[in-house]
Amino acid sequence: MSQDTFVGAIDQGTTGTRFMVFDHAGEVVANAYEKHEQIYPEPGWVEHDANEIWRNTKHVINTALDEAGLSSDQLEAIGITNQRETTVVWDAETGKPIHNALVWQDRRTTDRVEEIQAEDKVEWIREKTGLECDAYFSATKAEWILDNADPIKLSRSRPEDVRDRAESGELMMGTIDSWLIYKLTGNHITDVTNASRTMLYNIHDNEWDDELLEEFNVPAAMLPEVRPSSDDEFYGTTSDVGFLDADIPVAGALGDQQAALFGQTCFDEGDAKNTYGTGSFMLMNTGEEAVASEHGLLTTIGFQRSGEPVQYALEGAIFITGAAIEWLEDMTLIENAAETEELARSVDSTDDVYVVPAFTGLGAPHWDGRARGTIVGMTRGTRREHVVRATLESIAYQTRDVAEAMEADSGIDMGALRVDGGAVKNNFLCQLQADIIDTDIVRPVVDETTALGSAYAAGLAVGYWETLDELRDNWQVDREFEVDPDADYESNYGRWKEAVARAEDWARD
Ligand code: G3P
Repeated sequence: MSQDTFVGAIDQGTTGTRFMVFDHAGEVVANAYEKHEQIYPEPGWVEHDANEIWRNTKHVINTALDEAGLSSDQLEAIGITNQRETTVVWDAETGKPIHNALVWQDRRTTDRVEEIQAEDKVEWIREKTGLECDAYFSATKAEWILDNADPIKLSRSRPEDVRDRAESGELMMGTIDSWLIYKLTGNHITDVTNASRTMLYNIHDNEWDDELLEEFNVPAAMLPEVRPSSDDEFYGTTSDVGFLDADIPVAGALGDQQAALFGQTCFDEGDAKNTYGTGSFMLMNTGEEAVASEHGLLTTIGFQRSGEPVQYALEGAIFITGAAIEWLEDMTLIENAAETEELARSVDSTDDVYVVPAFTGLGAPHWDGRARGTIVGMTRGTRREHVVRATLESIAYQTRDVAEAMEADSGIDMGALRVDGGAVKNNFLCQLQADIIDTDIVRPVVDETTALGSAYAAGLAVGYWETLDELRDNWQVDREFEVDPDADYESNYGRWKEAVARAEDWARD
């Protein structure tokens, strides 16, 4: 390994795309970010333009390299991490999407999910996939696109049946990792962690599940090949991508939450992390055992290295946390996220106000696609400071909901919780989180652990890093938030549960 080579990571998230370059110590040497449009065609529908995501990916790679004065041949490998579940279908001949990507937050297939629930297939799906039957996952999104994409928009402009074309292999389906791997290398590949979020993949047999493909009417011919998250054989190289001079191996991919688990070096059974992004996702490594949840969590694939067994994780997926702060901004209650810390500290409590940000239904452990955002307890004296504080508290209470479920499922008492993501810059939130879950919170120096995790996966595959211990050595604590023995949120947590009960089922006919 030469001293002036690095590993790049594309972090394609819900709101934007980032490219970061890391050195051998896991430190950031280049970074560029670009937002993309959120498309809301109808209430509860969320789409992204996959072409825009690809354009932005190229742009952030070029910008990061230019600004840091790096050339592409200094990159020994590229890793990809991505918003999971979001589904793209594209034309194999032209490489153009046939419809906007349906985003993980999109609820348009809730009716279809309820149909499956009524047919008593929930357990059957959970046993195969480890997932709760929900519109969150890719299966019903792919089905919807095949049923609804406008045939006129297909490449050859022939009004042919979309499903026929999918069956004959003329269309490809993938999550965002797969879309980017295809654009970068020309190969149609996904990794095990992303496959495990489609609700079409059997996490025990490690293969696409024929019975699920039939249930959701998704032809096998359109699915990507599934490979390890860190792949010694590489998914491909950038030789024909057009905008990079070097032939860089694309050698690692992980869904963003699994990438954060990897970046936080949670390599051992019982290690757990919580990422505060658009939503929050707490994952605990359960080793080679796929632990079935009895408390509303997901069983998912954590990561896999070439030639090694799949490592599983338990996951508490909370749909809206950081996005609730963005919503405060949209409502002009705050000017920016940083302001929430001071506003929340300026009041002693929320004055019994509770915000339940169930904007896209409730995920773990409630799984209620019909729940909607709710504010309870307001009086004439309620000020924006109370609402802001209640919004921050909602992040911490939702995390407690999943932390309790996780300890109950795993039987492991979390000693300390490693945190990352944009919102952990907020010290008030970190302390509040420690007090509300009665567990110390540990914030690492590099809080962009999602990108770091995918760089690690790609770098291990090409030998830039050789052992997991090298990565463990890179991990450094920025600050630890110890539980305040005088803090008492028990009765407030009870009130939170009452508020959640009021948000549930709101959109049911
Ligand atoms: O499952 C959805 C998740 O992957 C989205 O993550 O970071 O884009 O909010 P993020």
